[in-house]
Amino acid sequence: MEIASRIDHALKAAVDHAGRSDAPPQLAEAIRYAVFPGGARVRPRLCLAVASACGDDRPELTNAAAASVELLHCASLVHDDMPCFDDADVRRGRPSVHAAYGEPLALLAGDGMIVLAFEVLARAAHQAPERLVPLITTVAGAVGMPHGIVAGQGWESETSVPVEAYHRAKTGALFVGSAMAGAVATGSDPAEWSALGEKLGAAYQAADDLRDALSDADEIGKPVGQDQVHQRPSLVSECGVKETVGRLEEYVASAIAAIPDCQGRASLEALIMSEAKRLKPKSLSQVAA
Ligand code: IPE
Ligand code: IPE
Ligand code: MG
Ligand code: MG
Repeated sequence: MEIASRIDHALKAAVDHAGRSDAPPQLAEAIRYAVFPGGARVRPRLCLAVASACGDDRPELTNAAAASVELLHCASLVHDDMPCFDDADVRRGRPSVHAAYGEPLALLAGDGMIVLAFEVLARAAHQAPERLVPLITTVAGAVGMPHGIVAGQGWESETSVPVEAYHRAKTGALFVGSAMAGAVATGSDPAEWSALGEKLGAAYQAADDLRDALSDADEIGKPVGQDQVHQRPSLVSECGVKETVGRLEEYVASAIAAIPDCQGRASLEALIMSEAKRLKPKSLSQVAA
């Protein structure tokens, strides 16, 4: 099955499970709205690409790992957009979940998706029960405290924010977790995949800071100029556009260099290059062209 269909099927099965006919219908609808239609699905694609490079001997478990990281990512966006965080009314080019369904349902949709992400892993665990504990540990580490997304969002409430730790936690950790979960789902050693996730996460955050500063809302489907509005540390405010572009290029090159020697090297490299191209603000590509 195509990578995109594997991701879609696994997410649909999870969302259908949560939204059975006897579930509260509006909350079920809010969860579906948060997951479909998706964004770039870059984290589950990374997870599947790493699993393929490791032999992908339990595809259903791999699909569950991919769905799990994407559910956690979508949940983080639902919460991130809420008025108590970034107060953003638009996401993926349409009203964000709280703007469409109200705050109580947005809060619960995010909570429900976080729990669902772990349930999805548990439900696929019969494929290789001994891989469940390392999968849970890997995925939980990417999203919780002390170094996952929750920690990243937590830094925003501190008076002094170390920009690298902030970015590593809010964005990098789930890239690391996605790459490592792909390896764990196949029973392989995840350690050698962590550097790839780390560099890709750093590249992604540099690109996101550039897009926040240089793109318009139509181009990226969400509000721009948010780092300045909320006085969030960003690479652009710390070191300027030129240096951030330089860092982005460095991170992309080091992500490629971090791909371990393996059969799937070419497709991982292609994934990184296509993301690097997609994420560069149009105004910069035009200057470069
Ligand atoms: C946005 O992530 C949040 C960041 C961590 C920068 P994505 O740009 O991957 O969001 P979608 O899923 O494609 O909408
Ligand atoms: C979101 O970070 C990252 C999360 C962990 C949710 P941002 O707030 O910088 O990302 P966008 O710009 O809203 O996607
Ligand atoms: Mg935010
Ligand atoms: Mg935000």
